[in-house]
Amino acid sequence: MTSTVTVLRAPSANRVYASRSGPLAAAEAHWVLGAHLGAPSRVTERAVGGMDALRIEGLELTAPRGVSTDPAPEDHTGSDAPALRLLASLSSTLGLLEDVAGAVQGEGCGGAGTLLRPLDLPPVLRHPGDLETILKYPGKTNEQFTALLVNLAAALSTRRAGLFDGTLTLLDPLCGRGTTLNRALRLGLSPLGAEIDRKDVEAYRAFLATWLRTHRYKHTVTDGRLTRHGKQLGIRIDAELAPDKQAQREGRGQTLTVYGCDTRELAHLLPARSVDAIVGDLPYGVQHGGRSAAGWQRSPLEVLAEAAPGWRSLLRDGGGMALAVNRHTLARSDATAVLADAGLRVISADGAFRHRVDQSIDRDVLLAIPTDHPQAEQLAALGTDERTP
Ligand SMILES: C[S@@+](CC[C@H](N)C(=O)[O-])C[C@H]1O[C@@H](n2cnc3c(N)ncnc32)[C@H](O)[C@@H]1O
Repeated sequence: MTSTVTVLRAPSANRVYASRSGPLAAAEAHWVLGAHLGAPSRVTERAVGGMDALRIEGLELTAPRGVSTDPAPEDHTGSDAPALRLLASLSSTLGLLEDVAGAVQGEGCGGAGTLLRPLDLPPVLRHPGDLETILKYPGKTNEQFTALLVNLAAALSTRRAGLFDGTLTLLDPLCGRGTTLNRALRLGLSPLGAEIDRKDVEAYRAFLATWLRTHRYKHTVTDGRLTRHGKQLGIRIDAELAPDKQAQREGRGQTLTVYGCDTRELAHLLPARSVDAIVGDLPYGVQHGGRSAAGWQRSPLEVLAEAAPGWRSLLRDGGGMALAVNRHTLARSDATAVLADAGLRVISADGAFRHRVDQSIDRDVLLAIPTDHPQAEQLAALGTDERTP
């Protein structure tokens, strides 16, 4: 039996983002549910008691036979149904309500109607929220949007279930001060990052070490030099962390590596075909420039053109990529062409995630997969589905 679920949405801390957060959340749900569950769900925006929400129809909430530990089919509370976990992981989910048929009494609504039953949110985040929110700096990617990028990139991977058991390998090849890495850590992943600006890498290292110490985590944070063929490329940060000894003993520890170097070096530093999901917020050509062979560029096109072949070589064939771009400084047709040259196919529609950040940034997301991705056609169909919000 399928259900209709209302996802109550958390307000966005960012006022400008908030004005587009409804369509963005709907588009995220469309892609994430469609990819994980194998068929698009009907997603529409709605309001419940004055709160912003999404209505999602046709969801199978009970866990597949043999997986659920819950004996009562009508009681979803505490079950490990994939759909509930997915809904809980969406970037703006605050709460979940399920439609149930019921008699609605009262003036103006005699007869049968629909009641909303609260559902428990399965826990999907392993660490406190301040891991994502404490560090503030100009050029930081907003956390809600970062969570959306992570979910989208993971959904494109054939190993997408690894988002929930810690086994998905995620790389942010332009990681700044670690907004994506922190989201990935909260999800229980062991992410990788690269950042050319040494100040950013050192600031992130200092923040993470302090956060782990103040939260009394079992951890080590080490830094070292990054060399290749005797040439110094930059620095490298490695961290190991677990909330406590028991988590460490039970193998719930996580690792993190940041390569403080040019993203174009990554293909020489990591094993080929070892990454499931790449999440990148490309330099906007405003706050951040892009470093390419020709030096610092205003347009991120050069950095994308030079880095994309290496990023592709790191992605597994069944991997996926979510890239945030500024439409003012990077034309979609140019980005699509350089990604195609690198063996990557853009499958999201033009403007599918379009929103204004400020006067100089008109942002969109490019979802790309290797041309030989085994699920290429099913995934591409989500980008052209007429129900795409
Ligand atoms: C839009 S910012 C990403 C911000 C990041 N998501 C955060 O919240 O901190 C783009 C980043 O790409 C970095 N970058 C630009 N060119 C690079 C290159 N060739 N190699 C590595 N990083 C580069 C910039 O230094 C900048 O930190």
